[in-house]
Parts: sequence; structure tokens; C-alpha cells
Amino acid sequence: KSFLYKLWKGDVSSKMLNPRLQKAMKDYLSTNKHGVRFKGKRNSKLTGDQLFCELKERVNVKTIDGKEAPFSTLGWEKHVPQIPLGKLYTHGFGSCAVVMSAGAILNSSLGDEIDSHDAVLRFNSAPTRGYEKDVGNKTTMRIINSQILTNPNHHFVESSLYKDVILVAWDPAPYSANLNVWYKKPDYNLFTPYVQHRRKNPNQPFYILHPKFIWQLWDIIQENTKEKIQPNPPSSGFIGILIMMSMCDEVHVYEYIPSVRQTDLCHYHELYYDAACTLGAYHPLLYEKLLVQRMNKVCQDSLTFEDNYCNCFQENMVC
Ligand code: C5P
Repeated sequence: KSFLYKLWKGDVSSKMLNPRLQKAMKDYLSTNKHGVRFKGKRNSKLTGDQLFCELKERVNVKTIDGKEAPFSTLGWEKHVPQIPLGKLYTHGFGSCAVVMSAGAILNSSLGDEIDSHDAVLRFNSAPTRGYEKDVGNKTTMRIINSQILTNPNHHFVESSLYKDVILVAWDPAPYSANLNVWYKKPDYNLFTPYVQHRRKNPNQPFYILHPKFIWQLWDIIQENTKEKIQPNPPSSGFIGILIMMSMCDEVHVYEYIPSVRQTDLCHYHELYYDAACTLGAYHPLLYEKLLVQRMNKVCQDSLTFEDNYCNCFQENMVC
């Protein structure tokens, strides 16, 4: 209870994590797999509103447009959708839901509320069938990591999860965002299945996020955090919140900052328990959550009553 309360209050540090997660964090810092060389200053003390405005102003959702090497030479301009992601909906959306895949959403009965939004974002292989009462059944967009496209267990080509929705894929690239290096050595080779899928389904909007966008988000998390964060890309959840902030007037985030239902159950659709799913090991998830909590517009007041914090189970950011 006290950890959750502190997270809501925004005063959590990695020292409060269990020893296994602390060790994982340290190992990622020393390995620095993606060659992160942060040149900015850490620990900027922006207020929630300042941070929100800075993110709105600075963050530029960028996808691979086929105009840069090596994609230009490979003829990708004709592979990527003609209409860029930012221009798909000229007037954007009014209110949007970002539905995290956390186990804590089970028994929330949030389904109807989630479906009442103009657009709903989901992640990876998170299903709606069988879970409608808690997670709803509307899906406008799905953010998928490169493992979804490459691991046969996910049945990317056949599964209905990936049909009739906007798809946005990403893969960890070097911090330098050198597209040539990334193309030769992606974490998981999403490029081939992407082109195949585009050929077969030319009318489905399907984008690959530009590594510059991913690392821009990482820089912002590090700039606003005192501790050194894991030198790995932010989680799909954080990436999704930022994409929706660029497309929606209001963003409602479900089960990112854990609710009273907090549990080690990693995903609502899988019987697998690991605290790392909620607090982070590879991803700088704890720090992402602290930033989002700082910008959060609801539930703040109830935190002045220690016993009341449990009423908060969703975040709501209004610009
Ligand atoms: O695990 P996966 O990346 O598919 O989940 C989607 C997103 O939901 C994560 O990137 C993370 O931001 C969020 N999540 C969470 N707590 C969990 C599981 C997922 O905050 N227990």
C-alpha cells in the first residue's frame, strides 16, 4: 500500500524496488546495449503543466516515410502509406482511451467507459474477446513491437487482432538512430514482414515508428528524472500515450499508474506473474509512470487524504 501511495504522490525511487529488479536495472545501465550517450541535463524540475506543454510542443511523432537511406534506395516510398499517421484524421479525436495490458484491469468493469471514447489504443497481442466487461471491445489503433511481426506464436498474418485497425510497429534501434545500422541489425527483423503485409493489405494504415521519435521520448524521460534511467527505449505504453496526446484533445489512460487492483499478474490475458511488467526492468517504466503521474489531471486532490488514494484508478490528461 505504501509503495502505491508513494508512486501516486510521485516520490518513488528505484531503491524501493525489489533487489532483483534493482540488479536488472544496474545490468542494463552497464551493458548499454543501444549505445545511449545522453548529452542533456538530468532532473529538470518542470511542473506537471509545464511538462505537459513541453511534450505537446516538442514531441514529433515521426514514422519511416521511405525518404531516407537505406529505405529510399529500397523503394520504400511506395511501401509506406501515402497518408502520414498525423494526417489520417484531419481533426484528430476528441477523447481517447489508452488501455494498458496490466493484470490489474481485471474485474475493473471499465469496458463500457473505455468504449465510449472516440478512439481506443491497445497494445501488442492484448485481446478484447472474452474480456469485454473489463477492457471493452473497440480498437482503433494497435501499437505492436517487432516481436509480434516476427514470432510465429503471434500469428501476425492470420490473427484478427491485427485486422481493421491502424497498426504502428516499432523496434529498438541504436541511440544514434542510424537507419543503415538499424536496417542491417534490427532487434527483430520487422522490415520483411512489414513490406509483405503492406503489399497484401495496401488499404490498412500501417506505420513503423522512426527511431528518432523513440529516443526523443527517452531523452525527455531522462531530462526530467534525477536518477539514471535504463538506457533502453520507453515501453509501448508510454509511446502510445505520447502518440495519442498528438492526436486527441483528451487522453484517458487505464491501468498505467497502478490502481488498488495492482497485482504482479503481468497481463490480463495471460497467467504469468512478474512485478517487472508493472515496475520495469528493461524499459524505464517506473520513470515513465512518474512523468505521466506528474502530468495527471485527476485524482491529485484525493491524495491529500491518505486513505482516499484508492479511489483513483485511472488517469485523465486534458490539454
Ligand atoms: O507488455 P506489453 O508491452 O504488451 O504491455 C503494453 C504496455 O502496458 C506496456 O508497454 C506498459 O507500458 C503497460 N503495462 C503496465 N503494467 C503491466 C503490463 C503492461 O504498465 N503489468
